[in-house]
Amino acid sequence: MDTRVPQLSSAPLIDPFARAISYLRVSVTDRCDFRCVYCMSENMTFLPKADLLTLEELDRLCSRFVAMGVQKLRITGGEPLVRKGILTFFRAMSRHLDSGALQELTLTTNGSQLRKHAAELAECGVRRINVSLDTLDDAKFADITRWGRLAQVLDGITAAKEAGLRVKINAVALKGFNEDEQFSLTDWCAREGHDLTWIEVMPMGDLGNENRLDQYWALSDLRARYAQRFTVTDLPERTGGPARYVRLEETGQKIGFITPLTHNFCESCNRVRLTCTGELYMCLGQEDMADLRAPLRSGPDDAALEQAIRNAIARKPKGHDFDYSRQSVSGQMSRHMSHTGG
Ligand code: 5AD
Ligand code: SF4
Repeated sequence: MDTRVPQLSSAPLIDPFARAISYLRVSVTDRCDFRCVYCMSENMTFLPKADLLTLEELDRLCSRFVAMGVQKLRITGGEPLVRKGILTFFRAMSRHLDSGALQELTLTTNGSQLRKHAAELAECGVRRINVSLDTLDDAKFADITRWGRLAQVLDGITAAKEAGLRVKINAVALKGFNEDEQFSLTDWCAREGHDLTWIEVMPMGDLGNENRLDQYWALSDLRARYAQRFTVTDLPERTGGPARYVRLEETGQKIGFITPLTHNFCESCNRVRLTCTGELYMCLGQEDMADLRAPLRSGPDDAALEQAIRNAIARKPKGHDFDYSRQSVSGQMSRHMSHTGG
């Protein structure tokens, strides 16, 4: 019988392609108060509460990742701020900022609950947030989010700014929907002091009758349109993710482009994603995942959990399988963004 006490190790997480895993994205709920057409169907069935990791389990899990070298934590959903008690979790994670182990604690939100929570998020050490916003037109906003109200989101963004949070706007580029707002959204961000990143629409979830390929708007086209109005300089900086940046010289604005389908960014990938049920996805574009909930619930000792995490990272694939090159979407993912986290 092996009587050795399992030792927890703080050795960094390095995958088989020598990539250090320093960035964990954590979905804390699959629920949302909006129903964006490219993300959810109108009548979503959400997970039963018992399937979700509790706030305590989320703390344990994230803390273990931090102990193994994760320096950046992004909280996502669904809409993270609709999860009951979620500020308790932010408060708990702030201890890792205080200790210096964690460099950044951040979130991606639809903005609807920011008026209520922005000040406390700032108190917890959150410095920057991403707000998803595709249009500045009331009617179009109601259209794309089905349940959302633009005024509430804009007020939330104002609250964030008042609390001292830096805001990055993430806009999904949709042909025939916000094509005509490329410059008005850009100008608004410049006036308000927000960064702006455009995201190519991804083939997530079941397409049903809404064929999102019809809405596909290549970001190379956006870039070309910027170049007609501005001097556009490519910036070398990379974040280990799919974003690339340019500067509009006339305004000094930095604009991001996230093109998961048209660029191969996998070689510098530093991230993994945790779903709200404790599944760890090693790659956004692959089905392979590791269940971390079972080892988490098997007992209070973190050794089994740590082993499960290390085994998972050892399986991180070299790259993703998205492919738009044929008319049907091959490599299409069957899960929704609200499950894996945006
Ligand atoms: N394609 C691109 N982005 C998506 N998001 C949700 N679904 C999709 C999709 N199919 C984005 C949202 C938000 C984040 C939560 O994920 O716009 O920025
Ligand atoms: Fe909610 Fe974001 Fe999905 Fe829209 S894209 S339904 S705001 S999770």
